Amino acid sequence: MLEISSASVKASRARTRALLAWYDREGRDLPWRVKQGRADPYRVWLSEIMLQQTTVEAVKPYFAKFLALFPDVNALAAAEDQVVLTAWAGLGYYARARNLIACARIVSRDFGGNFPDTEAGLRALPGIGAYTAAAIAAIAFGERAIVIDGNIERVITRLEAIDTPLPKVKGEIRDVLEGLVPADRPGDFAQGLMDLGATICTPKSPSCLLCPLAVTCIAKARGQMTDFPVKPPKKGKKVLRSLAFVALDGKNRLLLSTRPAKGLLAGMAEVPNSHWAAQAGGLEAQPLSAEWRRLNQPVIHIFTHIELSMEIAVTRIAGPIPPPDGMRWVEVAKLNAEPLPTLFRKVIEVGLRALN
Ligand code: ADE
Repeated sequence: MLEISSASVKASRARTRALLAWYDREGRDLPWRVKQGRADPYRVWLSEIMLQQTTVEAVKPYFAKFLALFPDVNALAAAEDQVVLTAWAGLGYYARARNLIACARIVSRDFGGNFPDTEAGLRALPGIGAYTAAAIAAIAFGERAIVIDGNIERVITRLEAIDTPLPKVKGEIRDVLEGLVPADRPGDFAQGLMDLGATICTPKSPSCLLCPLAVTCIAKARGQMTDFPVKPPKKGKKVLRSLAFVALDGKNRLLLSTRPAKGLLAGMAEVPNSHWAAQAGGLEAQPLSAEWRRLNQPVIHIFTHIELSMEIAVTRIAGPIPPPDGMRWVEVAKLNAEPLPTLFRKVIEVGLRALN
């Protein structure tokens, strides 16, 4: 018995060493990353929040922009909400931006600008869930935290051919990682697994010939690499419709409103639009009475649980008139300074094209 377990400890160590050696050679050079050292907690936190739900390539320019605008957590904490939301616009999942602001203010005000240096301390901050707390603790502070993201799930379920469906499989993945994460380089190890999942152990056609773990991968030995991880049955997305109103006045200003402080796209800018529902509805939701022309080119936007089809009505009114309650007229040339999510940028683009 003892012999078997010491053999399995040896096998785990060999896997860990192979992964770290591969990471040292092949791990990606990323702007927030310091290989074989401790990265700045602010940069690690900022990158991890941005990387929730967003790809590395999409994050890179936003990460650079944020560091230029807000070089440290105190600068971010001192910025106005509107400035941060505008810098975030286009990155999606806007609750992240609101939590980012809340978190920066707590760290700046309550912790003297220093992030808590433990997984538990980090977990208590807004926007920092189980994954993100573990990732920051391991990468920025060297804590032997167990980091599990989608890439790591794929690598580990294949390595051990674990066929429990997601998300239930996480406990088993954690058990495997407990035996693999090295005390001295937990952050490099986690990022090595992430990079392996992103570049070699990919969802559809893994490059097993290049994989440092292939010799001990059970799914590979069985030729069943793409059978793991086992996904739960898919839930369909709810389809909702809305009618958006693109109005220009005689001074080439566009009518904008602000979304409620809670819910989807909270606090972001928008063009007025009808309640999102099974039907788009008609002109009864118009923000001002005018001659509206309804276009037959809806903008489709996919959110996590919703597919939204936004139809568009346009109008050009003659004079400047006072904006309806809670709304404002914004010069078209100044729209870039507005925290407009991608959905409404697309709607405005289609609407303005129809008006020109
Ligand atoms: N995805 C999320 N965090 C990451 C990191 N630190 N390195 C690579 N991919 C990531």
